[in-house]
Amino acid sequence: MCGIVGYVGSQSALEVVLAGLRRLEYRGYDSAGIAVLADGGLAAARKAGKLVNLEKELAARPLPTGTTGIGHTRWATHGGPTDANAHPHLDNAGRVAVVHNGIIENFAVLRAELAERGHELFSETDTEVVAHLLAEEFSVTADLAEAMRLVCRRLEGAFTLVAAHADEPDVVVGARRNSPLVVGVGEGEAFLASDVAAFIAHTRSAIELGQDQVVELRRDGVTVTGFDGSPADVRSYHVDWDASAAEKGGYDYFMLKEIAEQPKAVADTLLGRIDASGALSLDEVRIPASELREVDKVVIVACGTAFHAGLIAKYAIEHWTRIPCEVELASEFRYRDPILDSRSLVIAISQSGETMDTLMALRHAREQGSKVLAICNTNGSTIPRESDAVLYTHAGPEVAVASTKAFLTQLVACYLVALYLGQVRGTKWGDEIRAVIRDLAQISGAVERVLETMGPVRELARSLAHKDTVLFLGRHVGYPVALEGALKLKELAYMHAEGFAAGELKHGPIALIEEDLPVVVVVPSPRGRSVLHDKIVSNIQEIRARGARTIVIAEEGDETVVPYADHLVRIPVTPVLLSPLVATVPLQVFACELATARGNEVDQPRNLAKSVTVE
Ligand code: M6R
Repeated sequence: MCGIVGYVGSQSALEVVLAGLRRLEYRGYDSAGIAVLADGGLAAARKAGKLVNLEKELAARPLPTGTTGIGHTRWATHGGPTDANAHPHLDNAGRVAVVHNGIIENFAVLRAELAERGHELFSETDTEVVAHLLAEEFSVTADLAEAMRLVCRRLEGAFTLVAAHADEPDVVVGARRNSPLVVGVGEGEAFLASDVAAFIAHTRSAIELGQDQVVELRRDGVTVTGFDGSPADVRSYHVDWDASAAEKGGYDYFMLKEIAEQPKAVADTLLGRIDASGALSLDEVRIPASELREVDKVVIVACGTAFHAGLIAKYAIEHWTRIPCEVELASEFRYRDPILDSRSLVIAISQSGETMDTLMALRHAREQGSKVLAICNTNGSTIPRESDAVLYTHAGPEVAVASTKAFLTQLVACYLVALYLGQVRGTKWGDEIRAVIRDLAQISGAVERVLETMGPVRELARSLAHKDTVLFLGRHVGYPVALEGALKLKELAYMHAEGFAAGELKHGPIALIEEDLPVVVVVPSPRGRSVLHDKIVSNIQEIRARGARTIVIAEEGDETVVPYADHLVRIPVTPVLLSPLVATVPLQVFACELATARGNEVDQPRNLAKSVTVE
């Protein structure tokens, strides 16, 4: 949450920082602001609302030109989305500016102390105290990096801070605890950002910042230390996707582009996972096979869409490995005092690798002695770094707030982990594993075919734009798919949408059914367990008898559903356990189109942010 950019170099800081903020706006869009060091002073502009408001403000009242600057795009925590609460925040002399992502938990105490010492604070944010504390420390040290270290030692909570001071015009300083911050190193210039997307147009050379570290950026290099001033080990890496991966590429929305990229994302996530002998080899999984053989329980922790991927993974893990698998919302996990030990394998699923709830869950699991395997899409992010092992999904950057291609690749990664566990524990034979891998290899083409037939789904979505409620039903792996369909509709179309296990309907939710209520039903394959299929066909009849308008997602060739479907969406024939990979796609398209028809911002739905770095 919140996007942060810092720049030192020879280009216009205003342009570099604004371009970076455009790339990071998916992280929060309640307000935006920028500060530039120029002519021996510091100039700043801040505006509530989207970045475009700040751009208009800058066009009306331009800032002086400088080559050092910082910027911020906000997802509000403390204080509403007003101009006064927008970052950067300045000290009373207007010499130091700071931007922040996270929550400073002891800000009230610090604020009271500052007030006693005569400081005037104008915003409701937790951030403003940092500007004042930095000014105090700088007046003693005349060294912004040292001032930052001293201040950070007094802060509690999670924070990424980036600051600039008019008395050190060629320096930007950043600090990191529990929130993301990466350094970009260019020729005679350096960058700080919440995400490499902000500087990928300038350099692909990046440095990961560790926990409790401060970085000082100058044109000729960067210096990293701990909060205590001790020199820190620096890990550099090369960013292997190019700038175009973070562009819309001719699509109206990132979400449409990302939906269209799913066949490739699925195929890429399978690449290189099979060795010469035909066995699964998951390079990044560094937990020894001997330890995986000892595992007596798998626990999956994740949030939102990633949680739904976990719910689906449970079916595959239990079926292929016979290891009991629990799936927990990461935000609930540690508070229920889960039973964990060294034989529990915890799988943390996260697209961003920065979700605070998931991070806290995995830390709790490791404290209990469990091994943690991350499934993640973001190289070098915190969750894989703090895990014992990682399996990266190869979806490429996902920018739209609503997760699509990341979800499908999370599923692929989960299937690979389940098969790998089956392989090392001997619960699956080599030929069985190869058969599933062959099926997975077919999925990319199947998703492609689904995407080619989405015209009627779009038309149907537009015709339902005036509705208030849509329900989603599923059974077995179709149940989490129903949950995911409902989540997509809530977050994008702002409609009342709920997913139910179809069998639960008669225990209460069927009372919601009324004349012409749209109900999407994800029908299991008739070739799987026929009893599941027959039961859901009965469920469709039950809701139809009560007036529901049925939107049935069913496999090609399944004719039994035809008489009961007011709208029929066909998906290719796929093995039952893998069917969510194709069944989810029409629901993504449906939600995206419905949101568009309702005039909503598809890529940046209200109140949300892509990367949720607060608990
Ligand atoms: O980055 P993560 O995968 O950890 O994010 C988890 C959720 O915040 C995320 O999936 C969220 O639910 C999406 N906006 C749903 O589309």
